[in-house]
Amino acid sequence: MKILVTGATGTVGGHVVRHLTGRGHEVRVLVRDPAGATFPADVEVVRGDLTDAEDVRRALDGVDRAFLNMADDNGAVFAQVAGEVGLGHVVLLSSFTAEHPLPSGDQNIIAARHKVGERALTEAGVPSTFLRAAGFDYNILMWAAGATDGVIRAPYPDAKLPIVHPEDIAASAAAVLLSEDPAGGVYTITGPEKLSVRDQARVLSGLNGKDFRVETMTEEEAKSSKFPEGTPDFVTTSVLETMSPAASVLDPTGGVEALTGHAPRTFGDWANENKEAF
Ligand SMILES: NC(=O)c1ccc[n+]([C@@H]2O[C@H](COP(=O)([O-])OP(=O)(O)OC[C@H]3O[C@@H](n4cnc5c(N)ncnc54)[C@H](OP(=O)(O)O)[C@@H]3O)[C@@H](O)[C@H]2O)c1
Repeated sequence: MKILVTGATGTVGGHVVRHLTGRGHEVRVLVRDPAGATFPADVEVVRGDLTDAEDVRRALDGVDRAFLNMADDNGAVFAQVAGEVGLGHVVLLSSFTAEHPLPSGDQNIIAARHKVGERALTEAGVPSTFLRAAGFDYNILMWAAGATDGVIRAPYPDAKLPIVHPEDIAASAAAVLLSEDPAGGVYTITGPEKLSVRDQARVLSGLNGKDFRVETMTEEEAKSSKFPEGTPDFVTTSVLETMSPAASVLDPTGGVEALTGHAPRTFGDWANENKEAF
């Protein structure tokens, strides 16, 4: 079997490649810049852009199944070409926001783009599994990466979210892609427990002998300090909503365990693996 991985230079896609290699199948990656990417020797690298139909057609040539991390076109080109060539199965990296409404509804671009991506694959008739992921463990870097003074400033320090280790999303994707009869449908992929930024700061405080404390910043401060200058307000609002108390409606699910057979990794696991960032 030949499996295509998109987003392979990124966090989740990179883990997907590692989970798929050495399992007796051919693995191909589609990357925009092969010169800047390193993969195991037996991985076939195809240069291409996901928003270019001919690139996608070349990348899908001879492929049975694929992992899709959507590009800026919300997966539109990929879905169309995958439907045309009769791709056997795709696992889409989607988001919990596709099913849990946030205050700005479909004006929230994160929710909207994942809904559009899911719909595109469905309408193209591509057999699909949607992995609707909770917020990633690495999102804490948005608030904690520059906290050299030991103070983590964040707008919703007490909003508890079932954050997920990116490797568990990849492990779930790989489990579907490698199975004899891939499970279609929707899986909500979360970590094992709901943690707030304050809870995460306590975990980080045990890591490098550094103590973190948390201060609340206003949404306006978060918008002006954590996004590139000129980022439109609907974008900053969309991102912040996914981390706000409104997103706290999502509870831990058994998605990772159902697909991989193992319990999801903890935030402590992720923090330990990334402690140099703190
Ligand atoms: N952060 C969260 O809390 C969260 C929660 C749920 C879902 N998600 C979703 O998860 C995804 C992010 O996953 P991630 O962290 O693994 O991504 P990432 O590390 O940011 O990597 C993005 C990947 O997509 C590739 N890419 C982007 N545009 C492309 C194009 N036009 N053609 C080909 N490749 C392209 C990039 O390739 P290059 O190397 O060429 O740039 C890179 O490999 C997003 O869709 C996000 O909405 C995130």
